[in-house]
Amino acid sequence: MPSRFQKIAVIGLGYVGLPTAAVLASRGVDVLGVDINSASVELINQGKIHIEEPDLDVMVQGAVTAGRLRASDKPETADAFIVSVPTPFKNDHEPDLDAIEQAAQTLAPVLEKGNIVVLESTVPVGTTEKLSQWLAALRTDLIFPHEKNKTPDISIAHSPERVLPGRVLLELVDNDRVVGGLTPECAKQAAALYKLFVQGECHLTDAWTAELVKLSENAYRDVNIAFANELSNVSDALGINVWDVVRLANRHPRVNILKPGPGVGGHCIAVDPWFIVSSAPGESELIRTARTINDAKPDAVVRQVLEAFKSSNASHVACLGLSYKADIDDLRESPAVEIVGKLAGSGLSCLVVEPHVDVLPPELQNIDKIQLVEIESALAKSDIIILLVDHSTFRSISESQRDGKTVIDTRGFWQ
Ligand SMILES: NC(=O)c1ccc[n+]([C@@H]2O[C@H](COP(=O)([O-])OP(=O)(O)OC[C@H]3O[C@@H](n4cnc5c(N)ncnc54)[C@H](O)[C@@H]3O)[C@@H](O)[C@H]2O)c1
Repeated sequence: MPSRFQKIAVIGLGYVGLPTAAVLASRGVDVLGVDINSASVELINQGKIHIEEPDLDVMVQGAVTAGRLRASDKPETADAFIVSVPTPFKNDHEPDLDAIEQAAQTLAPVLEKGNIVVLESTVPVGTTEKLSQWLAALRTDLIFPHEKNKTPDISIAHSPERVLPGRVLLELVDNDRVVGGLTPECAKQAAALYKLFVQGECHLTDAWTAELVKLSENAYRDVNIAFANELSNVSDALGINVWDVVRLANRHPRVNILKPGPGVGGHCIAVDPWFIVSSAPGESELIRTARTINDAKPDAVVRQVLEAFKSSNASHVACLGLSYKADIDDLRESPAVEIVGKLAGSGLSCLVVEPHVDVLPPELQNIDKIQLVEIESALAKSDIIILLVDHSTFRSISESQRDGKTVIDTRGFWQ
């Protein structure tokens, strides 16, 4: 029997949407990728990609060449729609759902009875229901699943993404998924969609629980990192090596302290806990405090570097890494970017090494004190080295290249 999913539209072709579209296409589905960024659309239609992710280039090229994957700036009719647009926060840490509302506006006109819409973006509790309401306001001829006591024409569900950048193509297939429907039938329909490529288990629940599950996963990580970061502040104040403390404490059979670092970055862990805080401010003191501790860490690193600078004759500081984590090109919310900006703002000449990008991010461009350079040049000219990201390529830096320099290792890379 032919699958009921002959054609699937993926709205938002970024770090989540593009790999999802490519994996679906590799399973023989006709996939339309939709993005408002015309440069990305053009590139994908040439079989090329605009992000860095292992093996994705080959998969996209194969899917485009086989005629299974096309990109466009407009949705078309399809059997199912997967929405993976950004969900940042505004200046006051309130969630910014504009991209989801815009996606609803563009996909509403092409919706047909029997369609499934799955929201994959990470969202505050209640957003999947909001999406249903937005669509219903635009398509009064269809019945949507938030309307009680009616049989819906459209199934709507939330299935949050859990992939780890750098392992996305593997984890998309292998990870368990939580699939939360606005009704139990919506969850069942959406799970059938994921069964096209997911080998992990699909755990069915309601949309509100699925939304909080995803936020809880990232808040859990954030709170645990905050503990490690606070421990590093305590250790510094007491003149104790935090890496020894963590290593030895973790020899306890029931203790597993995470690694401290220069702060928490990325569009997930640094953002999503705020979605819990904004929904239940009176009940989320620990989650808010963890965010505050992690957000304060870049300033602590800046103070440490300025101290080291004062007591040296250094003219330049080598800043190793800009991305928010190792071996990726994603600079969003990266503490390393914040640290370099603040060091330059304090008058230090920063020689930045970031092997995963060709140009500095906009906030660091056109600043005299900041240059993007190769490793060798940065090390040769600098008396202070700050390791901000534990990229594997930095393993090539030998002990002799670090000898005689002040090394501030925010990741415990050389411990
Ligand atoms: N990247 C990850 O590792 C990851 C992991 C889990 C969850 N998430 C969540 O998934 C969602 C997407 O994240 P991402 O990293 O893929 O973001 P991204 O910024 O890499 O990609 C989003 C894409 O959506 C496009 N877009 C924006 N508005 C649009 C619209 N109205 N219509 C069509 N396209 C639109 C953008 O141009 C961009 O290409 C976010 O909610 C994020 O929190 C991301």
